[in-house]
Amino acid sequence: MAELPQAEIGIFGGSGFYSLFEGDYEEVSLDTRWGQPSDVYTVGTIGGRKVAFLPRHGHKHTFAPGEVNYRANLWGMHELGVKQVIGPCSVGSLSLDIHPGDFVICDQFVDRTKGRADTFFTHDLGLGVQHLSAAHPYCETMRKVAVEKCRELGIPVHDGGTVVTIQGPRFSTTAESEWFQKMGWSVVNMTQYPEAWLARELGMHYVNVSLVTDYDSGLGKYAAVTNDDVLRVFNENLHLLRKLIEAMVPALPATIDDDCTGSATLFGRL
Ligand code: ADE
Repeated sequence: MAELPQAEIGIFGGSGFYSLFEGDYEEVSLDTRWGQPSDVYTVGTIGGRKVAFLPRHGHKHTFAPGEVNYRANLWGMHELGVKQVIGPCSVGSLSLDIHPGDFVICDQFVDRTKGRADTFFTHDLGLGVQHLSAAHPYCETMRKVAVEKCRELGIPVHDGGTVVTIQGPRFSTTAESEWFQKMGWSVVNMTQYPEAWLARELGMHYVNVSLVTDYDSGLGKYAAVTNDDVLRVFNENLHLLRKLIEAMVPALPATIDDDCTGSATLFGRL
């Protein structure tokens, strides 16, 4: 079998980013032990670093948040050699201090999804039962780089915050949204869980870049979120996300030695 191209950094994003590549890039189609990833991976170079992109919903946005094969998506990144993952996503604001167009570099998640395959540690894998700490699910080193680069680029950024991931595809009811707000959670989204967690199980460093597209379910005086709002505000800010990725990738350390890599050695054998 032909050798797979290798990448250091994985990014969940689609064709809106491919023009960041310097020179040629190649498409890699993978079929993992966990099934098919959402699409082909696109591997190339940005700022001298090897990067793999994957659109988490598929390039035609085929897969609803609850249908995405997160395990295959992350496992494919692992097969390509990825050690650091950037996970941009759109989010709704749960706070009057967080506005559409702001970026939040989350440091905690809350899981409100249902029935998603959210672990690699199944009995048939042969690695035994593993109970990992999820106390600090995001990579602090990558978070610092993201916050610093947002500030340098003049992007309004919140350093830390809690993202609650709902099952979707529907948005939250007003009662649900008010509950999330009362809990003090910052933003709401449909894909951060289990994506961020599965990266951790593989010993990968993961940073979330949340782009705020709306005030969730009519926070305060605002109208309830619609899908059109989410798409419009996301597309209006895509150029900033591209600038951020372009600035972050070369600024990430070649190796990061911290708690995120705790389980990496387990999967080195597979
Ligand atoms: N993604 C973007 N805005 C959202 C919202 N309000 N709820 C859930 N996911 C979102």
